[in-house]
Amino acid sequence: MSHERIALITGANQGVGFQVAKELVAAGVTVVLGSRDLARGQAAAAQIGDGAIPVQIDVTDTDSIAAAARWVEDAFGRLDLLVNNAGISRAVQTDGDFLADYETRNRASTASLAEIRTVWETNVFGTLAVYQAMLPLLRKSQDARIVNVSSGVGSLTANADPSYPYHSMFGPVYPASKAAQNAITLAMMVELESTDIKINLVSPAFTATNLNGFAGTESLEDGSREVVRVCLLGPDGPSGTFTRWENTPIPW
Ligand SMILES: NC(=O)c1ccc[n+]([C@@H]2O[C@H](COP(=O)([O-])OP(=O)(O)OC[C@H]3O[C@@H](n4cnc5c(N)ncnc54)[C@H](OP(=O)(O)O)[C@@H]3O)[C@@H](O)[C@H]2O)c1
Repeated sequence: MSHERIALITGANQGVGFQVAKELVAAGVTVVLGSRDLARGQAAAAQIGDGAIPVQIDVTDTDSIAAAARWVEDAFGRLDLLVNNAGISRAVQTDGDFLADYETRNRASTASLAEIRTVWETNVFGTLAVYQAMLPLLRKSQDARIVNVSSGVGSLTANADPSYPYHSMFGPVYPASKAAQNAITLAMMVELESTDIKINLVSPAFTATNLNGFAGTESLEDGSREVVRVCLLGPDGPSGTFTRWENTPIPW
């Protein structure tokens, strides 16, 4: 068995996932670069170079997830790092002021149930489905870690405080999807307590990406830094943490 570290990152063709893929490859990790559109994944992997291998994976499509798991099994026989990064903030992109639109979409009384289902399908059920499919491969690693990329805007404790900057924007579409993603991550943490598999929950900073119409205030490099740090934790690194830039704990 080779000693290279094998990582799978979902949604790695752009944004935070791409940046993490680039930095992990630079650190010597072999990255299976997940992309729901293979051509976009191939272009992203080519940009990174040797060490990045594109694989098609749509986290809302069970067949696609199963095929990606089979591909990793055939190529490497195991998985050392799973980064559940794929996510969406809305069902349909619109032009204009992202934050104003986000606040409008996230009103509990008027939020579209169809949009809630679409966003939760990717952020919540997608994360769980990929976990379930990849766990057998993680169990074959000597030093397995799962990093779920969520968001501080899903913190129930933070949002319950009226002075929290995003308090007025808490709603059922994206923020509650991230609260639910956090909850299922806690379920994974509880399940994995009796194993050697480590698991961490991490929030990028408010980063300029397609997810927020590039309204984020941090660069990809800075915004992704905590995700990269957690992904590169060694066998003695902690499990069960929920942090943001820079290693600051986020309340659940
Ligand atoms: N940016 C921020 O400020 C911020 C803050 C906190 C948390 N986050 C979290 O960070 C993660 C990455 O977001 P980002 O900001 O980097 O956004 P992004 O640039 O829009 O990237 C999201 C990635 O997820 C992929 N994706 C979406 N639906 C998918 C599906 N069904 N199956 C597989 N891949 C799918 C996208 O693919 P396509 O290219 O095909 O659309 C894209 O590669 C998300 O989980 C997000 O919630 C971001």
